[in-house]
Parts: sequence; structure tokens; C-alpha cells
Amino acid sequence: MPKLLGPLAQAITFAHAPMKGPLGADHLEVVANAGLLIDDAGRLAAVGPYPALAKQYPKAETWQPLWGAPLVALPGFVDAHTHACFAGNRALDYDLRIAGRPYLEIAKAGGGIWSSVQATRKASQADLAAATVAYANAALRRGVTTLEVKSGYGLSVAEELKMLRAIRTADGQTEADLIATCLAAHICPKDFDGGPAAYLDLVVEKLLPTVWQEGLACRVDIFIEETAFDHTLATQYLQRAAAMGFQLTVHADQFTAGSSQVAVAVGAASADHLESSSEADIARLAASDTVATALPGASLGLGMGYTPARKLLDAGACLAIASDYNPGSAPMGHLLLQASVLAAAEKLSTAETLAAITYRAAHALRLADRGRLAPGQWADVQLYATDDYRQILYWQGGMEPALVLKQGKVCLTSESPAEASEPAP
Ligand code: NIG
Ligand code: FE
Repeated sequence: MPKLLGPLAQAITFAHAPMKGPLGADHLEVVANAGLLIDDAGRLAAVGPYPALAKQYPKAETWQPLWGAPLVALPGFVDAHTHACFAGNRALDYDLRIAGRPYLEIAKAGGGIWSSVQATRKASQADLAAATVAYANAALRRGVTTLEVKSGYGLSVAEELKMLRAIRTADGQTEADLIATCLAAHICPKDFDGGPAAYLDLVVEKLLPTVWQEGLACRVDIFIEETAFDHTLATQYLQRAAAMGFQLTVHADQFTAGSSQVAVAVGAASADHLESSSEADIARLAASDTVATALPGASLGLGMGYTPARKLLDAGACLAIASDYNPGSAPMGHLLLQASVLAAAEKLSTAETLAAITYRAAHALRLADRGRLAPGQWADVQLYATDDYRQILYWQGGMEPALVLKQGKVCLTSESPAEASEPAP
């Protein structure tokens, strides 16, 4: 039987909000005294004022969780860029970085990504899956119902497959949805007997076919940078991956401008980082269908400037914000906190900031079935114990959802809808 959730003080629906460009308060499409009708399949069947829905669907089971508290409903957050599958930590790198050693210099000296590769290769697939589940569940408690998770610390055919299989195992062990991305092209492994071109050939010929056949990932990522891969090799690699059917994404413009043009040229779903993007990069992204994904966690972790999010929006781009959770540049992994901090630094409206971690982030993963509270969308919903949606960014990550629903079901608690509807004693 369908369930009618409510009455809720406010529901932030983004029902018709545009995919690109600046947003104002009207685009939030706030419904006051709202109800959400959730069907048996876990999708939203109707969203609107509660009294009208109660009248229209008299047979629906009514459901008022946390009875008596005012609640604001938001679509579940989508974290469209994480490296949550890894072993070990890089506290040593951090110790050096905060004292002034640059990230790229540490990488060249043998620290950086390569040290996480060594730790991750030593870990078992089961341990990697457990670490990924632990992070996904922590994120889910903070309202993140979908997380992208990259490989990229294996960097050999066998070790990349181990990571991707660990991510698949983890997906079956958490209520959050994990979307895997193959980042075998993170850097050219230091133990590879050959140069970057030969390594990418190996990935295309020996790894990607298995990834595709086993359904381990349908997305491919590459890091374009002085310490990783150049434009020419990256373009060829991405075109070959696209020809196999993979969706594309790129680590672009992190330290050096210009690589986002590769992402745009190959029709990537997103270009991520963009801290060093030039005016020309911004204009190209804005004119494209490639989502510009800001990663404030990397700026905070590296002590660098932020992605020019305001300029990207004003130029007309689709802006997403993701955590980049990883052991090197972004060990914090707190999406709402980071989005709130980026909003304050870059002067983003509440609508722009929340859109960047809901439906616009879903678009970075080309998922059209989540990110808004609208009929047909999955009932991935978070409920905050407040009567004013503005408090959610204001507390800068300090306010966590009182309840998170994934496909209509309460997450990370044994609380059933029936129990939840009992009045408080
Ligand atoms: O998104 N820039 C490249 N990759 C990651 C960092 C990975 C690492 O340092 O382990 C990033 O920042
Ligand atoms: Fe990253």
C-alpha cells in the first residue's frame, strides 16, 4: 500500500529547476505543509500540500516519522566523486604539506598516490570492501544516498579488478547506492615496465574488457596532469573507452589549466576539480553538456584556492559539488560541510549549493532518477528536524538529518514505518 509521509514543514523539491546556470530561491520550489506519497516500489508517486494529498489518496497508509517535530525534506545527497575504496593513510604527506611541501613535489619524491597504491595492494578485497562500506554508511547517516566510488589505487590489471570487485561487494552491503568508476589511469604505475602510452594500451586491451563484461563499472576516469597523463594520451584513451560504451569523466585543471578542454572535446559527463581553470576553460565548460564538479575537500586538504564555482554558474555551466574523499588530497569526506564552506567562499545561493549536491550531482553521473522530490523519482529523502531549510547550510555540516530514506525505506535503523508513526510517549 502506498505511504503518505507528512505533514512536513517544508519539502525542497527542485521539481522543475534547470540543469544549468544560476539559481535563486524560487528554484527550490519549496512546498509548505508538504506530503510525499511513496509507492510500494520505493518511488515518489506524488508530492504536494499534505491536506490535498490526504484527500486525494484516502487509502494511503499515513506516516509521520518523529511525531511532533517539524521536519524539512530534501532529496538525498549525491556525492559524485569519491575515492572511498583504499587502505592506509597519508598522515605523513599531510604533515609535510601543512609545513609547506607541495602535493606534486611529494608525489614526485615517491609519496602521494603511489604510497596509497602500495597500501591498497597489500589489503585484501574483503578489507577494502569493509572500509568502503564503513565510509558509505557514515555518509548515508549524513544524508548521502548515492556515492560514486573510484578504483585507481590498484594500477595493475589484477589489482584494479580487486578494487572494483571490492566496490561491488560493498554496494551489496550498504543501503547507499555505490556507482563504480574505473580510474586505472590515475597515474602510470612506477613498477610498470614501459611508459604511459604502453600502460594505457594495457588498460584498454586487458582491463577494460573484463570491467565491461563483469559489469564492474560503466564509467572511466583519467587524471590529466604533469605527474599523470598528457592531453594527447588522455584523449586517445578516453575515445577508446567511449567506443567500448563507457561513460567518461576527467580529473581536470587541478594544478594546470587546460585539461578540461579534453573532457569537453570527448563529451565527458563531468570534468572534476577545475581549481586552476582559465576563463577559456570556464567558457568551454559552460557551453557544453559536461558537468563542472567542484571538489572543495581537495582545496581544504591541500590549502589551495577553490574551484571558480561562481564564475562557472554565471557563465551558464552545470555545477556539481563532490567530496573527493581520498587518503591524499581530501581526507575529510564531509559533503554538506564542504558544500556549505564553498558556498560562503564563492557566494553561491542556497539553491545553487543544494542543487550541486542533489539533482545536478546526479546529472554528473547521468542518473535522471534521483536528486529531486518529484513523481517518478526514487524516494531517496532526508528529513531534518527544523522548520526552516536555510538552517541546513547555515550549520555548516553540524546539522545532520534526523531520518534518511533510501527508496522509501528508513536507513541504518531497525525503525519500521509503523513504529515511526507511533506518537512519542
Ligand atoms: O582527486 N588528483 C588526483 N587524484 C585525487 C587524489 C588522490 C590521492 O592523492 O590519493 C584527487 O585529488
Ligand atoms: Fe579525485
